[in-house]
Amino acid sequence: MTPTERRTAPIVFFDTTLRDGEQSPGISLNREDKLEIAQQLVRLGVDVIEAGFPATSPGDFESVQAIARQVKGAVICALARCVESDIHTCWEAIREAEHPRIHVFVSTSDVHLQHQIKKTREEVIEMARESVRLAVSLCPGDVEFSAMDATRSDWDFLAAVIRVALEEGATTINVPDTVGYTLPSEYATLLDHLFANTPGLDKAVLSVHCHNDLGLAVANSLAAVQHGATQVEVAVNGLGERAGNAALEEVAMALVTRQDLIGRRCNIVTTEIARTSRMVSNLTGYLVQNNKAVVGKNAFAHESGIHQDGVLKERSTYEIMHAKDIGLTDSDIVLGKHSGRHALKSRLAELGFLLDGVELDEAFRRFKELADKKKTITTLDLEAVVSEEMRSRLDLYSMVHFYVSSGSAIIPTSQVEVVREDEHLQGKAFSGGSVESIFQAIDDAVGISGKLLDYRVRSITSGKDALGEVRVVVEVDGHTYAGQAVAIDVMEASAKAYVRALNNVAQGHEASMARPERVF
Ligand code: KIV
Ligand code: ZN
Repeated sequence: MTPTERRTAPIVFFDTTLRDGEQSPGISLNREDKLEIAQQLVRLGVDVIEAGFPATSPGDFESVQAIARQVKGAVICALARCVESDIHTCWEAIREAEHPRIHVFVSTSDVHLQHQIKKTREEVIEMARESVRLAVSLCPGDVEFSAMDATRSDWDFLAAVIRVALEEGATTINVPDTVGYTLPSEYATLLDHLFANTPGLDKAVLSVHCHNDLGLAVANSLAAVQHGATQVEVAVNGLGERAGNAALEEVAMALVTRQDLIGRRCNIVTTEIARTSRMVSNLTGYLVQNNKAVVGKNAFAHESGIHQDGVLKERSTYEIMHAKDIGLTDSDIVLGKHSGRHALKSRLAELGFLLDGVELDEAFRRFKELADKKKTITTLDLEAVVSEEMRSRLDLYSMVHFYVSSGSAIIPTSQVEVVREDEHLQGKAFSGGSVESIFQAIDDAVGISGKLLDYRVRSITSGKDALGEVRVVVEVDGHTYAGQAVAIDVMEASAKAYVRALNNVAQGHEASMARPERVF
């Protein structure tokens, strides 16, 4: 990278939602969920997708491999410890990608060396040397090296490790604030020190990866960009270990909104931000807090009279960004009962769903069904229903009918009919709560018994006729599977979500839950 490119090239967005983000407690994504998120990250304009950490489990390996094979238009990266077998596994998972990247890491702080990896500084230098050398031999031209806990490391030792990684051919050097400890001014000084003391660093991509333990991840990432960083590692909705990583949408909108001061561009298509945030929230089950910057429900709402008055007179009095810049539309009402197939097709295309033939017929059928129950169908409703339809395309089981009776003085009774290929399976149950009884009736019909680990309901829009979305996580034979569905009736959404989870059981689409025994 020449000095001019360093100053003018777009900041590289490296998204780690599917790796560090997926380490958030309770997240359970299966391979199809991850593929769907990865495809959306490409539409969002992300440059590098960190798809996972293949050595941690066969499920992670398969998800990374599927992304590497199917997702085009971004670099597909995967993580490996500075351990020979991890690096080979990582390469096997990503080797078929259009643009693969191996990302190796080792800790450099004394506290990690003494208490966690039990290595001397000399041993760490050798691990970095051998691992980068091996990674470069497998994936020449795109290897990233991370010095874990860099911000709590001895600065000269850190520079020495980075020097070795550069000598061996690493093309990106990442200086993570692993525990979210540093402050913007300190981080900036550290990067200045590294540039001054590490020959060749100015030719590499300098990356930063900030955790949010003190709520400074975005501020630290921006300070780093102002001090020469050319890649930011971020996650959608700020997901990640503990308090999370720097939020992709916040870093991107700060670069766009404060272009005057920072003067750096990026390839993020900001109008895809709201949709990506909703998709990640839906699939991970992690709700976005109302007052979250950029993507929170209230980010563009004005409550006080003075603010409303100002915005009505001139939007810029109290708004520094426009809702439409992140893809929120002014008019939420899109279609009604009388809209035809053609109107639906073009509205869906605007939302990024290019449907035809059977898929469009099915979406139209769902749309009509919904329009009979709900006066106006919003963008959010359409997105929820069509995404669900696409996800259930290959399902083995589908629910044709359910019945549940409940009340304050009776034991709930449920009956369900589930179809598997041409076979109609009936099930019934009488038990505790109505949701429990539906799930037991489904178990009875399908012959699989799931232990419910998580159950969440939320409404897609406001209003009494809003679509309800249910997400369940079930355990079967020690493995976890997730399912999600939408319907106006929450009981119906619950039943369908549970059937979806059992489909994932039948198809072996395990959802990886964040596991404490994972490395860091
Ligand atoms: O937080 C961290 O240091 C990491 C590294 C693996 C980059 O996630
Ligand atoms: Zn991290």
